[in-house]
Amino acid sequence: MSTPLPEADLGPVDVPVGEVLVDWYAGAARDLPWRAPGTDPWAVLVSEVMLQQTPVARVEPVWRAWLERWPTPAHLAAATPADVIRAWGKLGYPRRALRLREAAVAISERHAGVVPADVAELEALPGVGTYTARAVACFGYGSRQPVVDTNVRRVVARLVHGRAEAAPARASDLADITALAPVDDARAVRFSVAVMELGALVCVAGTPRCGVCPVRERCAWRLAGSPAHDGPARRVQKFAGTDRQVRGRLLDVLRAAPEPVPAEALTPAWDDAVQRSRCLDSLLVDGLVEQTPDGRFALPH
Ligand code: ADE
Repeated sequence: MSTPLPEADLGPVDVPVGEVLVDWYAGAARDLPWRAPGTDPWAVLVSEVMLQQTPVARVEPVWRAWLERWPTPAHLAAATPADVIRAWGKLGYPRRALRLREAAVAISERHAGVVPADVAELEALPGVGTYTARAVACFGYGSRQPVVDTNVRRVVARLVHGRAEAAPARASDLADITALAPVDDARAVRFSVAVMELGALVCVAGTPRCGVCPVRERCAWRLAGSPAHDGPARRVQKFAGTDRQVRGRLLDVLRAAPEPVPAEALTPAWDDAVQRSRCLDSLLVDGLVEQTPDGRFALPH
């Protein structure tokens, strides 16, 4: 799906790239609920965890329902793992749901129920890494932070380094993006989301939409003649037939079951008994499923 965007206004070339991107964002950004002014840091943390590896359209309804049910970390900390796995629905990568609940417990115990604003304290929470910690500090607390996800790495690769695609994550990504941030703190915060948005809407993987890019005239990759990607081909993640799909099917059965179920109840979820059993074992190891003393299976309590 490609979003219609206006022909980019390139403006005078002496305006720093970061400032151009902030101005572009003002007219081109998607209206996403977690970006509304005043969104509290807990709601931002929930959005950022859900948005890792999951498209915006699928996250939106689950995010709304989640915050209605668990409006603060203390509410979520009191939920059971089964509750959160059910509420996570079909977002995928359900270990994120367990980690988010553990983060809520840690916030309740260590931070009196208030999401910390400090990046090091955020990074010490379960499931919160370099990206999520800075996204929460920046979008939840308005602090100037380099917020670098896959989209931002790709923008930096092209705009700054003249390469077609992002290299694997590296420490210098944070410095590269810091160097482009506007001087004014409020604009630096908007810059962080603006670069993400450019990567999501314009500077996309594969064939970028340079015709609508506001910084195309300063892009090192275009100035170098748009050289082809010279690294290994990007992995396209498949889903059909993978353990991820089978795990999802097994969890679907357990989500729908009000009581623990015997192993036979899981047979229709997947024909291949070896793969089914391997996936059930991995769900047990991950703490997404538990076995009752009489040998039945259920979401964990
Ligand atoms: N706005 C802030 N963080 C975001 C994200 N991870 N994805 C999309 N929009 C966002």
